[in-house]
Amino acid sequence: MTRPTQAIIDISALQANLLHVKNHVPQQKIMAVVKANAYGHGTVRIASTIANEVDGFAVCCLEEALQLRDLHIEQPIIILEGFFHLDELAIISKQDLHIVLSTATQVKQLTKAKLDKPINVWLKVDTGMHRLGFTPKDTVSVYQLIQQHNQISAPIRLMSHLACADDLNSDITEQQVQIFSELVKYLKIEEASLANSAGILGWPTTHFDWVRPGIMLYGASPFPNIIDKTLQPVMQLKSSLISVKRCYKGDAVGYGATWVCPQTMPVGVIAIGYADGYPRHAPTGTPVLVNGKRVPLIGRVSMDMITVDLRNQPNARVGDPVLLWGTGLPAEEIASLSGTIAYELFCNLGSRVKKSSSDKLL
Ligand SMILES: Cc1ncc(COP(=O)(O)O)c(C=O)c1O
Repeated sequence: MTRPTQAIIDISALQANLLHVKNHVPQQKIMAVVKANAYGHGTVRIASTIANEVDGFAVCCLEEALQLRDLHIEQPIIILEGFFHLDELAIISKQDLHIVLSTATQVKQLTKAKLDKPINVWLKVDTGMHRLGFTPKDTVSVYQLIQQHNQISAPIRLMSHLACADDLNSDITEQQVQIFSELVKYLKIEEASLANSAGILGWPTTHFDWVRPGIMLYGASPFPNIIDKTLQPVMQLKSSLISVKRCYKGDAVGYGATWVCPQTMPVGVIAIGYADGYPRHAPTGTPVLVNGKRVPLIGRVSMDMITVDLRNQPNARVGDPVLLWGTGLPAEEIASLSGTIAYELFCNLGSRVKKSSSDKLL
């Protein structure tokens, strides 16, 4: 038996979350966001599970898109950052991938390229995020320019990204919707996309033709400090107790001696640390489930281990099961205590954590 640290990917939770997306947007097409190894859940496993139930997939870069092509995914695969070098265009064209165009440099290179087949393009408009994308005015001129080019397939699609949809009180989302809607109308766009998970759940006016769910597919809420019980955690991060020892009043536990035992007590050691993706900034008191019951983390998170206070689990033994996040202990709660978001926890899952699926075939 090797180290007990493992992430189990719950396929039925993924399917339930996708159904939840569909219930929110029954008319829209769904582009499942599976970039960054499907937010740490494993691209192959996630994409194969939902391949027949979504209308497309979104990834960050060509390498990620090719991984999906290797699975014989037939739906559109959209590369959100487009391309970085001219020589990617021949592969993109051959593999019939979609690209998001968001800079003048990309437009210049694409319109000069010699390609066997025209490429499907999503023009990215900057409606308020001020990160990637053309200004609304430039979007109109770029649209008119690329329409003339036979390297580009019709129809040209339009997309933008929401900056503050996770804040239900922000005015920015409706401002972005207004700018986007005007362009969609003016350019007579046939297929437009704006909504991420927060847009799907909280902002019906953002839905347009295609939605782009990421985090909600994996069962975490896009809204800070809200645990959405209608979503089911897909990642179950598990380990076990590898030591239970008696410590005495005044004993300091872990690096920096930051936590001192107030009395004689059992202290458990769990085989997970920041090298596995458990956040180093998780403070004393962060909950961990030992035998299904909450116990507090104590002292600093080490590279390979954490320590817990077992006073409310006096019968806990080496080998007892531990859940770091998953059903009964939302990743959002651990993330919030550690000053981050569930997205980062999932994406940071360490490569040495064994990953398997609740469905033996995947
Ligand atoms: C362009 C784009 N669309 C959609 C998403 C999905 O967002 P979420 O995971 O919040 O649903 C992302 C994620 O970062 C993104 O970059």
